[in-house]
Amino acid sequence: MKKINLGIIGCGMATEVIHLPVLSKCKNVNVTSIIDIDSKRVYDLGQQYDIHNTGTDYNSFLHMMEAAIIAVPHHMHAAIALDLMEKGLHVLVEKPIALRGIDCKNMIEVSKKNDVVLYGGHVRRLYEPIQKVKKLIAKKNLGEVIRFEMLEGRIFEWPAITFDMFDPNRGGGVLTDIGSHVLDLMLWWFGDIDSFEYFDDARGGVEANCEISFKMKSGAVGRVELSRVRDLRNTYKVLFEKGTIEVTLGHDALVKIERPDNYFRAYLDYSKKNKRTIMDYFHMQMMNFVKAMQGKISVDKAAEECMCVVELIEMCKQNRKQLEYPWEKGGKIELYAS
Ligand SMILES: NC(=O)c1ccc[n+]([C@@H]2O[C@H](COP(=O)([O-])OP(=O)(O)OC[C@H]3O[C@@H](n4cnc5c(N)ncnc54)[C@H](O)[C@@H]3O)[C@@H](O)[C@H]2O)c1
Repeated sequence: MKKINLGIIGCGMATEVIHLPVLSKCKNVNVTSIIDIDSKRVYDLGQQYDIHNTGTDYNSFLHMMEAAIIAVPHHMHAAIALDLMEKGLHVLVEKPIALRGIDCKNMIEVSKKNDVVLYGGHVRRLYEPIQKVKKLIAKKNLGEVIRFEMLEGRIFEWPAITFDMFDPNRGGGVLTDIGSHVLDLMLWWFGDIDSFEYFDDARGGVEANCEISFKMKSGAVGRVELSRVRDLRNTYKVLFEKGTIEVTLGHDALVKIERPDNYFRAYLDYSKKNKRTIMDYFHMQMMNFVKAMQGKISVDKAAEECMCVVELIEMCKQNRKQLEYPWEKGGKIELYAS
């Protein structure tokens, strides 16, 4: 079988710990070149993976690429993806695929015009527990969704190479970073938004905490809370007319389903049920990209959905309200809970 000749643009932490190890196991992909503005870093990674074409400017390597993974910091995704697609390359763009809805719209148009694949790296959608929840919501065995709460917060410890995730002018902050995953799942599970209210604690820099409340077109209401400085409950809870679902985070999540009216309770533990690792899911994502290039699947709808996430993040930023700390709200502060 003919192998896909692929290059990687941006060889920071995601490429080091995800893309290169995954691609080393993809038999139908040939990594022809890796590119990063840090010449030493890209050379060292090339040595490690026996990739001889390494450099700092992707234009020098385009003749040996039919597809590319774009894993540079967020703010450069759109410009590089547009340039590559105009030159006829298929692109897998890391999440978020862009920082502005208008850029996503252009990306989708260019991908259609040039008949090339635009695939966004929203890997969490492939996780089996996440797909299970999607099916449970759609089946309506528990009735309609009334309320949801998605809480995701951990102390930031991703060892990114650049400082861009802390730069307000480069899409830094928890909303764009973790929010692009969480809001993608929220829209996928619960459908379109009617209205929302967004609060974050940015004070000139990037937000470390944010809270969003939603009214959905379905009539459901919900809340998303994200943090990169606090450990939150780290589950997604859904209250239905007749029961509840609670999911822990990750590819190996625990899904608790309860329906009190008929004494039903199920705990689906994907750490035991399914031995897939996180790398298996990134491999699956890569295989989807290959299948899309071969015309075996379409990822057009997925690209439109990536745009909806970017638009929502953009709207949140445009309508942001200050998240106040308890000591700023006035009145008495309860120091010790009784
Ligand atoms: N899907 C996921 O779960 C997941 C996980 C991690 C990161 N990501 C995404 O991947 C992207 C990269 O994240 P990261 O953690 O690797 O960041 P990083 O800061 O570690 O790496 C970015 C790399 O891009 C390089 N770079 C900057 N400008 C460049 C240019 N013009 N040309 C070539 N290289 C350039 C930098 O030198 C750096 O090595 C982000 O958008 C992030 O959201 C996604």
